[in-house]
Amino acid sequence: MAGGMNEVDRAKLFPVTRGGIFLAHAAVAPISGPAHEAMNRWAAGAAQGQQEDEEVWRRVRKAREVSARFLGCEWDEVSLLGPTALGLGLVALGLDWKEGDEVIYDPLDYPANVYPWRDLARRGVRPVPLERGLGEKILWSTLLPKITSKTKLVSLATAHYLSGLVPELSVIGPELKARKILLCLDGIQTLGVMPTEWAEADFLAADAHKWMLGPVGAGVLMVRKRVWDRMSPPLLGSWNVVSPDYLAQSTMVVEGGGRRYEPGSLNLPGIEGMRASLELLEQLGRKETSEHVLGLAERIREGARRGGFSIYGQGEEARPITSLLEPTQGWKEVPKKMEAARIRVSWRREHEGRMLLRVSPHRSNTRAEADEFLKVLGSAG
Ligand SMILES: Cc1ncc(COP(=O)(O)O)c(C=O)c1O
Repeated sequence: MAGGMNEVDRAKLFPVTRGGIFLAHAAVAPISGPAHEAMNRWAAGAAQGQQEDEEVWRRVRKAREVSARFLGCEWDEVSLLGPTALGLGLVALGLDWKEGDEVIYDPLDYPANVYPWRDLARRGVRPVPLERGLGEKILWSTLLPKITSKTKLVSLATAHYLSGLVPELSVIGPELKARKILLCLDGIQTLGVMPTEWAEADFLAADAHKWMLGPVGAGVLMVRKRVWDRMSPPLLGSWNVVSPDYLAQSTMVVEGGGRRYEPGSLNLPGIEGMRASLELLEQLGRKETSEHVLGLAERIREGARRGGFSIYGQGEEARPITSLLEPTQGWKEVPKKMEAARIRVSWRREHEGRMLLRVSPHRSNTRAEADEFLKVLGSAG
C-alpha cells in the first residue's frame, strides 16, 4: 500500500508504478495519471481549434488557486511561468536595485539559484556568497555574518538538492523581516511534498517537474503584493501590458495580479498538467503525503546506514531527499543492479567530485519498494 491507496488506484493515479520502482522525484519526476489525462484533453481540444477557450481559462484560474493554497499566498500573487530559473531571473532583473546593494546567495545551491544573483555584479550590486561546509544545513548563524546595512535580498532553496536539508527558515524568515531584508526562495525541492508556506517569503519560484508531478517547463512564480511596487516586470508583451485590440499603446500600463510577470502566451498544456497533479496531491492530503514520504525516506536512511553507507548532509532531521555518499571502493555494480531491478534513482556529483546515489520517494511509493531498493543496494556491495 502506498499511503492508504490500493494497487488499482495507485496504478491509475501514478502510471509510472506499473513499470518499476521510481525513486528519483528530486530529479525529473513522472507526471501523474490525472496530469496525463488533463494534458491529453487539452491537446484534443487544441486539435479542434480550441487551444484557448472559456473552459481553458477557467482551469488556468484554478491552477493559480491551487498553487496559492500550496504556497500560502493569494491566487493573484501567482504567475504561471516555466522553469525555476525564469522566475528567479525575473526577480533578479526586476527588483529596484541601487548601486552598492548586496544580495546573499548560496554558492553550493543549484545553478538556477546562483547565476542570476552573481550576474547582478554587472549592475553594481554586490553578490555575497554564504560560507558553509559541504552538506551543512543553513542556519541563521550561517547568514548573520554576511548581513550588512546594504543587504537587500537573501535567496535560498527551501531544501538543498543534494542533501535535502531545509534551511532554518522559521528563524531566518522573521530575522530578515525584522531587518527589512527581502527573502526569495527556490521552492522546487519541497513544493508538493513538504510544507512550503513561508509567510516571510517575498518571492518563490518553482518548476512543476519534481514533487509537484507536473510536466517540465511549467511552473510558478510567487510575488507578494507587498513587494509589487518594488519590482517591475523585466519582460513585456501583449499579455502583461494592457493592449486593447492587440494594438501597441503609446503608454504602457502593466496588468496587475499574476499576469504582471507573464509577458505573452501561456504554456497551457503545461499548466493543465501542473494543475491536475497539484489537485491530486491536495485530494490525497498534503499532510498525509508529507508523512508518508518522510517515513519512507527515514526507512531508506536507516537501512542504508545499517548496510554501512554514509548519508550526505549532517543532521537527523526529516527530509524527502537522501543522498548516499560514494563508498571508498566506488559504486561498482550498483548502477547496473538498480537498472536490472528496474529501480530508478538519480546519480549526482557533489562539489568535491564524489558521486552520490540520490533517492527521493513520493506518495506513489510503498514500503515494500523502499525495502526492495535496500535489498538491491545491499546485494551489490
Ligand atoms: C534546487 C533546484 N532548483 C531548480 C532546479 C531546476 O531548475 P529549472 O526549473 O530552472 O530547470 C532544480 C533541478 O534539479 C533544483 O534542484
